[in-house]
Amino acid sequence: MVNEPRLPIVVLISGSGTNLQAIINGMQNGCLPVDIRAVISNRPGVDGLQRATEASIETAVVDHTQYNSRDSFDAEMQKTIDRYHPKLVILAGFMRILSEGFVNHYLGRMLNIHPALLPAFPGLRTHERAIESAVQEHGASVHFVTTEVDGGPIIIQARVPVLKTDSAETLAARVLAKEHKILPEAIRLYANGQITMQDNKVLLNGTALPKSGIDFQDG
Ligand code: GRF
Repeated sequence: MVNEPRLPIVVLISGSGTNLQAIINGMQNGCLPVDIRAVISNRPGVDGLQRATEASIETAVVDHTQYNSRDSFDAEMQKTIDRYHPKLVILAGFMRILSEGFVNHYLGRMLNIHPALLPAFPGLRTHERAIESAVQEHGASVHFVTTEVDGGPIIIQARVPVLKTDSAETLAARVLAKEHKILPEAIRLYANGQITMQDNKVLLNGTALPKSGIDFQDG
């Protein structure tokens, strides 16, 4: 529909912003009924800020090196986000651990993309660790952000095979391509009112999803 309501969102980044670009593309091609009110980075000068500017999206930087505590950074970040009154906050390649107060302020309306099949490999260096562990499968997860780091209820996951010839770089590239599909899909479902978080579970059309969320299959 031409004038369907668009969900106001804010996207937080820390770097290249390829996940942000996937959201921008979805918004511009009409698949994602969202209005990206702002892109906020904790690091100045990153490519993701340029991507936003090229799409005529407002940007802001809250540089974490300018704050002498996590709480003061989080307070400034929250103030900056709330200036845009988003209904949903997206962590897209955002590399900061957030304080409990911040997370609880956005509980149920903040999503994160993690490059692993959670609960496997929370934290960093997920692709190296997947190869070191000789798992056959790896992938990406989109989850609601809760005070448990990389532990919130999972909305959607996409799987990729780990090849014997894989390096961390080749595996990361295969996973990233899936990230660019499942993050917009999770946002679309939320914007359409089809997913909500309740009692630390994800409800899809009112029915609780399995712990692993939706198993995304490329169309
Ligand atoms: C992605 O793998 C994301 O999952 C991780 O950082 C990588 C780069 O993300 N957190 P982006 O290109 O900045 O969206």
